[in-house]
Amino acid sequence: MPSNDSNHWNVLALLKESAPEFVSGNALAVRLNLTRTGIWKNIRTLITLGYHIDSHPRRGYRLVGVPDLLIPEVILPSLTTSWLGRAYYHHSQITSTNDCALQWAAKGAPHGTVIVAEQQTQGRGRMRRPWLSQAGSGIYVSMLLTRPIPVRDAPLMTMVAALALTTILRENFGLAAAVKWPNDILIGSRKLAGILTEMQSDQDRAIFIIIGIGINVNHTQDQLEGPFRYPATSLAVELGTPVRRQDVLLSLLHRLEWEYDRFMTEGFGALLRDVEEASAILHKVVTVHCGNREISGRALGFTPEGGLKLLTLDNKEEIIWVGDVTQVEGFD
Ligand code: BTN
Repeated sequence: MPSNDSNHWNVLALLKESAPEFVSGNALAVRLNLTRTGIWKNIRTLITLGYHIDSHPRRGYRLVGVPDLLIPEVILPSLTTSWLGRAYYHHSQITSTNDCALQWAAKGAPHGTVIVAEQQTQGRGRMRRPWLSQAGSGIYVSMLLTRPIPVRDAPLMTMVAALALTTILRENFGLAAAVKWPNDILIGSRKLAGILTEMQSDQDRAIFIIIGIGINVNHTQDQLEGPFRYPATSLAVELGTPVRRQDVLLSLLHRLEWEYDRFMTEGFGALLRDVEEASAILHKVVTVHCGNREISGRALGFTPEGGLKLLTLDNKEEIIWVGDVTQVEGFD
């Protein structure tokens, strides 16, 4: 188990300072006012966390590789948000980050609390479908939002989150990401990420909302084969190279805070053009599953309140508030 004190981060800072050169155990001990055994214990803690450190009997220690962990010690110093992720909880393994966020909500955790796991044992998607959550390959994150909003606006949170994620995938990674309303992030017709929004409400207000996001980051093609509803992809598969999850998470939190603040101050209407621009279904013929019926038609766009406008096959305009797009023209 990693030690509870923060000495290992001080050791790490000194290793980083001298990398790629060795620094002696004695020099570290003097700088940090620790014994050489204390230094060795902290080195072991860092190795347990995944840092690659060479040790040499005469030359000391040398940092050769840093892990792509989403631990607070790595994320918080680089976080550029004002409120999202300022309370940040990281788990090596958990059932579901959404479940954990629910527990934090019950304890009165602050607006913007973020829960991240390296691995989920019961990660879930919409309709209680399982969500593949292998250790270290993906991002599994939930965000707790406690600013009250009208219940009817709660589904818009999925659209706000989808817009934020699509934007960073396009701008930071040059990927043609798009949103299959309401919660799938696709590259072409392959699913890269999904969003699960859950809430607690009274009659007219959402008391809190949890946005859970799962992103396939470094999954290999083999890991993505399986009985999925849609063919899946990952950032590494799309880009042909592994991606640092830290960078993806940091930019997602930054952009999501920005889009959420824009939504809260200007309303959904202000995001409408961007939401339509990020859509994978606009102008396409789709089938939408809503309640116990299926409806097909051409997606005309979204209303300023967030409804999906469909021109049905018998030429009537319908607005769908809650549903799941099951088929899109031109997709496998
Ligand atoms: C979907 O596409 O149906 C939504 C998938 C949402 C998965 C994420 S992973 C983090 C959070 N915790 C969960 O158990 N689910 C969401």
